[in-house]
Amino acid sequence: MTGSQKNDTERQPQTDLEETKKRAYIDILNLMSLIGFLYGALDDRLDFDEALAQQLKKPAPHYRTKLETNLLACLGGMSFVLILVQILTGVLLLFYYRPTVSEAYQSVMEITGQVPFGWLIRGMHAWGASLLIVMVFLHMLRVFLTGAYKPPRELTWVSGVVLLALTLGFGFSGYLLPWNQLSYWATTVGTEGVSAIPLVGETLKYLIRGGHDVGQLALTRFFAMHVVILPGITMLFLTVHFLMIRRLGIADPL
Ligand code: HEM
Repeated sequence: MTGSQKNDTERQPQTDLEETKKRAYIDILNLMSLIGFLYGALDDRLDFDEALAQQLKKPAPHYRTKLETNLLACLGGMSFVLILVQILTGVLLLFYYRPTVSEAYQSVMEITGQVPFGWLIRGMHAWGASLLIVMVFLHMLRVFLTGAYKPPRELTWVSGVVLLALTLGFGFSGYLLPWNQLSYWATTVGTEGVSAIPLVGETLKYLIRGGHDVGQLALTRFFAMHVVILPGITMLFLTVHFLMIRRLGIADPL
């Protein structure tokens, strides 16, 4: 092979890559102009601009407390930011995770060992889960200690209690998904506890596990809970929580 032939074959993959990149840019531009085209037509009918302006022009609630300059008033907002991080990293993990007893553990090992930045995304999701639980507890503590649960904020408090239960539910259901020894036995012990509930305990445990033991059906059920059912219910209660906060503003000091 002559020197120039060798250079040509080495250059080939480089030009392919550039060609693919160029095509990707053109596709992105096309997509953006399509969205722009559709936006005009949809806005004519649904008036997005008007709805958005109404929301953005609404003044922020006036606080008569020093709380707004205080980190304590940000704990709820920080919980929400962490929820957004959980959603983003969770969706990315879904691209590689396989929810079967024969493949779950292997797929998680691939995520941490082979997928680019997989270790980071999984780490953020796992640590973010613990951080979220701590943050929601701290937020609840500040609401309790400042008496912000009192009327007319009962519904904000009650929706908050449900959000706390949902947050813990995410932690419990997510723990089984890597299907390692720790997650298997933690779920076995955790679901065993359910059977102590009088009358309905055994049936409930059977329902949660999808059988007498923790197996494929349990993994499928926990996966469905973690990625579909709990997120759906959480969105609903977050909406109620935020609508109430918007309506009432932040509570006055004690
Ligand atoms: C996923 C969890 C939660 C999120 C994302 C969230 C978010 C928020 C945000 C952004 C606020 C505005 C003021 C602030 O940040 O302190 C707020 C206020 C409030 N939250 Fe939460 N929250 C959550 C859980 C809870 C829990 C567990 C409770 C109580 C059981 C609760 C009860 C309240 C109440 C009563 C207020 C009104 C406080 C006031 O007016 O001063 N929230 N929440």
